Amino acid sequence: MGISPVQVMLRFIAGFLPALLFFGAIMDLAGTAKADNPVIQTLYSADPAPLVLNNRVYLFTGHDEDGSKTFNMRDWRLYSSADMANWQDHGVIMNLATFSWASERAWAGQVIPRNGKFYYYVPVQQKNGAMAIGVAVSDSVTGPYRDALGKPLVANNEIDPTVYIDDNGQAYLYWGNPNLWYAKLNQDMVSISGSPVQVALTTAGFGGRRSGANARATSFEEGPWIYKRNNLWYLVYAANCCSEDIRYSTGPSITGPWTYRGVIMATAGASFTNHPAVLDFNGSSYFFYHNGALPGGGGYTRSVAVEKFNYNSDGTIPTIATTTSGSPMIGTLSPYVRQEAETIAFSSGLKTETCSEGGMAVSFINNNDYIKVKGVAFGTTGAKSLSARVASAGSGGKIEVRLGSTTGTLVGTCTVAGTGSWTTWATVTCPISGAKGTQDLFFRFTGSGSDTLFTFNWWMFE
Ligand SMILES: *[C@@H]1O[C@H](CO)[C@@H](O)[C@H](O)[C@H]1NC(C)=O
Repeated sequence: MGISPVQVMLRFIAGFLPALLFFGAIMDLAGTAKADNPVIQTLYSADPAPLVLNNRVYLFTGHDEDGSKTFNMRDWRLYSSADMANWQDHGVIMNLATFSWASERAWAGQVIPRNGKFYYYVPVQQKNGAMAIGVAVSDSVTGPYRDALGKPLVANNEIDPTVYIDDNGQAYLYWGNPNLWYAKLNQDMVSISGSPVQVALTTAGFGGRRSGANARATSFEEGPWIYKRNNLWYLVYAANCCSEDIRYSTGPSITGPWTYRGVIMATAGASFTNHPAVLDFNGSSYFFYHNGALPGGGGYTRSVAVEKFNYNSDGTIPTIATTTSGSPMIGTLSPYVRQEAETIAFSSGLKTETCSEGGMAVSFINNNDYIKVKGVAFGTTGAKSLSARVASAGSGGKIEVRLGSTTGTLVGTCTVAGTGSWTTWATVTCPISGAKGTQDLFFRFTGSGSDTLFTFNWWMFE
């Protein structure tokens, strides 16, 4: 029992992270959370790569370490959502140690299901300093992912793989910066058929370079994302540099020839890179990207965000603006089944960590931190009580249950006492009154201790 030395050190370090102190600044003066973008607030995330599985979106991301002044990326993260508004944190699903031949740079990858397995293609730096693309495999979308080969899949010092299985079952890997390459993947998804092909970067295919951008033949920079829709193949990519914008090309086959189609997202905000992903889910289309919009955000402390969009009737993609509201919610969330505390629409001041009871838990809970859960359907009768699964080696604190905002109607307060250790979990229950209809639910945490008040595993209303 008790907190491990590593946990003690992490808690100590986190207490001094200036980034955490700024999270509160994203609220307005009335204490209302204004934004649901960026999607993830408990850390800096980059390079979104979503997929749909069993009516959920699984969003793979890279991770910028807090306070980074250069690309400092060591692991890959996974989040999932059934409603595009509340995202559950699945934690670290792969890290640099997965690849014994890698030294650093856990950069932009993509996962694809096939053969009942999940294949994760990522660029990493090899011990000789050159970039290469590795492939990891898992039996489950949530991992663990293990190195499929024990060596790179492709090593030509280029990055940013995207993968797609064409109609005839042939899988293709595209990647590249500064050039653009593709290769056919064999059925096993962990070997290449033939030699990689270098795509001719022409201005007809990829557009001219924006004036002022670094010198290259066309607008193409990096981060390709390939997919097919209505018999048209789309290649979306980060263009120009720096700052990057997002542009795209289309073609009559997965190998082109490509026709340049223009800008999807203009340069915006504090991040000098951007990285696209396009996904259809629940009958709508979504554009994922990253920016520097969290407090403390910038080129090396980025955040994944998402916007809903509609294709034009001719299949072209409209220009998409960055927003702080993000995508609308699909449906509602039930408060009457167990919900993970790390299922979050927006939050302030919090981190997550691996939970000793399995899964993840919300951690580093301090006075005035909060979690927003969007679109919670309490129904016409309403909730009578809340149960919360918590642990605290300290003296605990309180969970204020509010509707609409962090200062909205208080419908109940659960008191959390110390449980003796961070791995001794207890379920606390408190009465709730006035929680009816569909509401944005806010858990606002209060307490007088200067250290973490408690950790929070799950909750459920009755
Ligand atoms: C979208 O989600 C709603 C709410 O969960 C569901 O009722 C509907 O059937 C879904 N639509 C599609 C096209 O998947």
